[in-house]
Amino acid sequence: MADATETDFDRRLNLKPPVRLTVEGLRVIYRTRRGPFQAVDGISFEVEPGTVLGLVGESGCGKSTVVKALMRLLPDGTRIEGRVLLDGQDLLAMDKRALRRVRWNKVALITQSAMNALDPVIRVGDQIVESIRAHEAVDRATAWRRAETLFRLVGLPAHRLNEFPHQFSGGMRQRAVIAMALSLNAGLLLADEPTTALDPIMQDQIMSRIRGIQELLHRSMILVTHDIGLVAENCDMVAVMYAGQIIEKGPVAEVLVKPRHPYTIGLHNAFPRMPEEGEARPPLISIAGGLPNLLNPPPGCRFAPRCPFATERCRVETPPLRELEPGHSAACHYAERAEDFRRLGLLPETWAVKEAAA
Ligand SMILES: Nc1ncnc2c1ncn2[C@@H]1O[C@H](COP(=O)(O)OP(=O)(O)OP(=O)(O)O)[C@@H](O)[C@H]1O
Ligand code: SF4
Ligand SMILES: [Mg+2]
Repeated sequence: MADATETDFDRRLNLKPPVRLTVEGLRVIYRTRRGPFQAVDGISFEVEPGTVLGLVGESGCGKSTVVKALMRLLPDGTRIEGRVLLDGQDLLAMDKRALRRVRWNKVALITQSAMNALDPVIRVGDQIVESIRAHEAVDRATAWRRAETLFRLVGLPAHRLNEFPHQFSGGMRQRAVIAMALSLNAGLLLADEPTTALDPIMQDQIMSRIRGIQELLHRSMILVTHDIGLVAENCDMVAVMYAGQIIEKGPVAEVLVKPRHPYTIGLHNAFPRMPEEGEARPPLISIAGGLPNLLNPPPGCRFAPRCPFATERCRVETPPLRELEPGHSAACHYAERAEDFRRLGLLPETWAVKEAAA
């Protein structure tokens, strides 16, 4: 990379501009034997070109379902409603041919199970070259040069393109998968728990590598994670999901410093920041209970059964997502009392009361 001018580098990678993603009223209903299961319930958000949105929430809240809906990779029979606009083009309204053209060219996916994304019997370099040539009219030598550039970008020596996946360690395979995902230079990267399968040191290395690449190539990105710490370090904006809905969203600096929704406050406590010097380590408090059954969602606020601040009103009246400060919205009837909630939320007994009641 050091020998390449920026123009050579851009040309070699065939860089396209970052994408603006606008999601409006996205609803995903899985067909199950027990009836319709509303995994995503009318969510809206935006990813500005060249920025990173963190999509955060506990296991089962619908994060991967959102990602799959954005790629239209959901099982047959699943109902999808709403609009997914990539630079104004609605992905959900496209026929299969148009979708094929747009999908990998505009959106790339790095998944939780990235290890399975490589074919064990084909050399890694050939897989990347094949993927490029399946979507772009370039000769093999050009595609190979791009693969070399991508390997250097993810921190792998170019000569290892000649090897098979089993000759790579877990961390190297994950890097190779990232190189593969980047190979078509999609303007939007979807990274679904990209480091979950790795040990903590490797997680840090891979995550900072992904972030470095996103900044260098100026891509738009959604980082899906249950770890609010990763969001704090890597994202510009954040959307917090609970039981298929976005319950709080806004700039990371706002939402994570001054969360307005009790669930975000609780999530924060489950991943406490490192203490400042001389400061006591904040207690690790988890939110008792689990997600409601979405085969038959409860009326009112879906967080009410676990919320220490719930009132009768919360159990009957659904709180809308309201903008409280420019760009910062939360879906809580009592978001104006957030300062009290944040103070009380730091006390283990606040959440313990709920635990005893559950
Ligand atoms: N194909 C499917 N059919 C029916 N239900 C599904 C299907 N896929 C996922 N679900 C359900 O939808 C809900 C959301 O799942 P999803 O995988 O989107 O959650 P997630 O937030 O990505 O969780 P995790 O953090 O564990 O990856 C879960 O209750 C899950 O069991
Ligand atoms: S609306 Fe009520 S139950 Fe829901 S988060 Fe706010 S206080 Fe808690
Ligand atoms: Mg998931």
